[in-house]
Amino acid sequence: MTKRVAIIGAGPSGLAQLRAFQSAKENGEEIPEVVCFEKQSNWGGLWNYSWRTGLDEYGEPVHGSMYRYLWSNGPKEGLEFADYSFEEHFGKQIASYPPRAVLFDYIQGRVIKAGVRDWIKFSTAVRDVTFDNGKFTVKVHDLPNDKIYTEEFDNVVVASGHFSTPNVPHFDGFESFPGRVLHAHDFRDAMEFEDKNILIVGTSYSAEDIGSQCWKYGAKTITVSHRTAPMGHKWPENWEEVPLLTRMEGKTAHFKDGTSKEIDAVILCTGYQHHFPYLTDELRLKTANRLATADLYKGVAYVHNPALMYIGMQDQWFTFNMFDAQAWWARDVIMGKISCPNKSDMEADVSKRVKAEDDGQDDYDAIWYQGNYIKELVSETDYPTFDVEGACNAFKEWKGHKKINIMTFRDNAYKSVITGTMAPKHHTPWKDAMDDSLEVYLQN
Ligand SMILES: Cc1cc2nc3c(=O)[nH]c(=O)nc-3n(C[C@H](O)[C@H](O)[C@H](O)COP(=O)(O)OP(=O)(O)OC[C@H]3O[C@@H](n4cnc5c(N)ncnc54)[C@H](O)[C@@H]3O)c2cc1C
Ligand SMILES: NC(=O)c1ccc[n+]([C@@H]2O[C@H](COP(=O)([O-])OP(=O)(O)OC[C@H]3O[C@@H](n4cnc5c(N)ncnc54)[C@H](OP(=O)(O)O)[C@@H]3O)[C@@H](O)[C@H]2O)c1
Repeated sequence: MTKRVAIIGAGPSGLAQLRAFQSAKENGEEIPEVVCFEKQSNWGGLWNYSWRTGLDEYGEPVHGSMYRYLWSNGPKEGLEFADYSFEEHFGKQIASYPPRAVLFDYIQGRVIKAGVRDWIKFSTAVRDVTFDNGKFTVKVHDLPNDKIYTEEFDNVVVASGHFSTPNVPHFDGFESFPGRVLHAHDFRDAMEFEDKNILIVGTSYSAEDIGSQCWKYGAKTITVSHRTAPMGHKWPENWEEVPLLTRMEGKTAHFKDGTSKEIDAVILCTGYQHHFPYLTDELRLKTANRLATADLYKGVAYVHNPALMYIGMQDQWFTFNMFDAQAWWARDVIMGKISCPNKSDMEADVSKRVKAEDDGQDDYDAIWYQGNYIKELVSETDYPTFDVEGACNAFKEWKGHKKINIMTFRDNAYKSVITGTMAPKHHTPWKDAMDDSLEVYLQN
């Protein structure tokens, strides 16, 4: 097979794509030549922690949005690889909400075993992708050697993530606010906010988790401002939910209901943009952050040019196992085992998915919607089938545990849908666990 495939990004999505091709090779199939370009010096994507913010040593935008002391915000039983269990990696079952370093170790364990590191060109940023005469021309920058070169490919798989380029709204008075204003993307260490009165804008996972970190590490008060609705959890005493920020006057934050509060720092947890500066207009996905993305047949193949695939572009209840399902499916399209229908049928598929998502009533419908999507893709490839229903139920339990107590939900344990083993309860409640190292986490 003389086909060449470029993968952009070696985060969980790009690594899933590498593993998908490698597993076909392991099964004796002839696979295309696969080249993965990763702008960072190591794999793991967001899970590859960086202390840097702003620009990196080469002047590239820093990709990382993760921060110190980050623990998984959903149970690991909802994301376990069907072909590589936590027990296989760690030699035992581990507790359900691993810190970042533990999940990083797990992600890389599978690809070390697969032996695909040589397929990746690290410290190489993709600058430009164009399509002409049935071929993609990919222009990349080898950063350490400061060399720009181009290569031709038959297929391109975009796996560069969509939680890195921040969405940063403006509020009047920020220009003269005497404290720090930052976006969640640049948040690194909650200790910076010890004894501070912090204002968080936004009500999704970043707001909930960054607020909880700041609470855990000693912020004086946490005030969370909502545009649509409050999160409504039973928060600790020094935590308050308020309507949308209207303006800052000096250190005073004013809110839509006429109330105000003195603030030391503002953290904008206002989400991210799908941002692909290296893609031309005809190739660039333009979508909201939702479960049924615009313009992707089966959530993967770009309807305007199905030789171009996008992995992991959906909003995410499921993560690693969904990226796997997509990567195996993309591989089979590229290898000619699955064919995409004509453009109008692909567009009809997108519309059907959008409607099905819109018909959902609540978060539970959304979880099952994404679970059913995974089942659909898995049924079309040789990715190992697994108990997706069980994973949906783990998410359902997780939501219940959050309702009971938002500061203790991580102390619960769930059953693996891959091995059937129950996770142990973690040795220390999350709110008291200050050491998030792998060594300490594994001491169960
Ligand atoms: C703060 C935060 C916490 C999260 N916590 C969880 C969690 O607890 N559990 C969970 O399951 N998910 C979590 N997620 C979701 C996360 O999106 C996924 O877990 C996962 O990292 C997505 O993988 P990805 O490969 O699609 O994207 P990414 O992890 O973003 O990886 C993309 C890769 O592409 C590379 N890249 C980008 N542009 C270029 C370019 N031009 N050229 C070359 N390479 C490029 C990047 O350097 C990066 O390595 C979290 C996300 C955030 C922001
Ligand atoms: N492991 C962890 O603990 C952890 C921690 C953080 C993040 N994450 C992950 O990171 C991903 C991104 O989450 P996210 O919370 O950053 O983004 P998100 O889910 O897209 O949420 C964005 C939030 O910003 C608000 N917002 C956007 N524009 C606004 C504006 N102009 N004014 C006021 N509010 C505005 C939205 O409010 P509306 O509701 O009004 O639209 C929403 O609450 C998720 O996959 C999440 O799971 C995980």
